[in-house]
Amino acid sequence: MSIAFNMPFGDFFEHYQEKKPLLLKGAVSEIEFSWKDVNDIYSNSDAASNDFKLSLNGIRPKSEYVESYLDIGILRHRLIKPVVYENLKNGATLIANKIKNSPKISHLSNQIATFTGRQVVSRAYLAFGYKDSFRCHWDTRDVFAIQLIGRKRWIIYEPSLEHPLYTQQSKDYEQHYPCPPNPYMDIILEPGDVFISPEAGGITPYHWERPPSILQ
Ligand SMILES: [Fe+2]
Repeated sequence: MSIAFNMPFGDFFEHYQEKKPLLLKGAVSEIEFSWKDVNDIYSNSDAASNDFKLSLNGIRPKSEYVESYLDIGILRHRLIKPVVYENLKNGATLIANKIKNSPKISHLSNQIATFTGRQVVSRAYLAFGYKDSFRCHWDTRDVFAIQLIGRKRWIIYEPSLEHPLYTQQSKDYEQHYPCPPNPYMDIILEPGDVFISPEAGGITPYHWERPPSILQ
């Protein structure tokens, strides 16, 4: 799986990086990513850590979907799978942050790191149905969203707070900097599409992701 950025880095740096959003349709060639790869990402994640989250009308408490058990005297944690499945059926989003042990994800991340010359942290978002993954928000880092399976709608707004610092999370500032009324972009990502949303400047920190993913 290789990503075609379709422009020299100099052009990207001058026109898009930290400036405005960019949609690269069909940028990933020869997608080799299956539901087994998805399962591997989530089973290799530590469900008890803060890097693993279940979001449905806000982030759910661990006690709802993670249980502890004794493994020959060692305390371990595992997902309560029926609860996770029920949440996913109801439109939840399952998030694995700082993905490790996934050669395919590392391969994609490395290409972004090589192109931008920046550190990359990988996250997976899994969801079904038509519910919003998150309410309108901005991110305090550049986002390279790669659609690998299914489809996802993104609604992008112009920034209400220009150049937020990493400490200025939208949940703490949205009362004073509310989401603008009219979208700047309204797009549906399909497998192989890459959407680049800059963290600050020009155009987009505010985006609204919905529905999370639709199985084809
Ligand atoms: Fe976001």
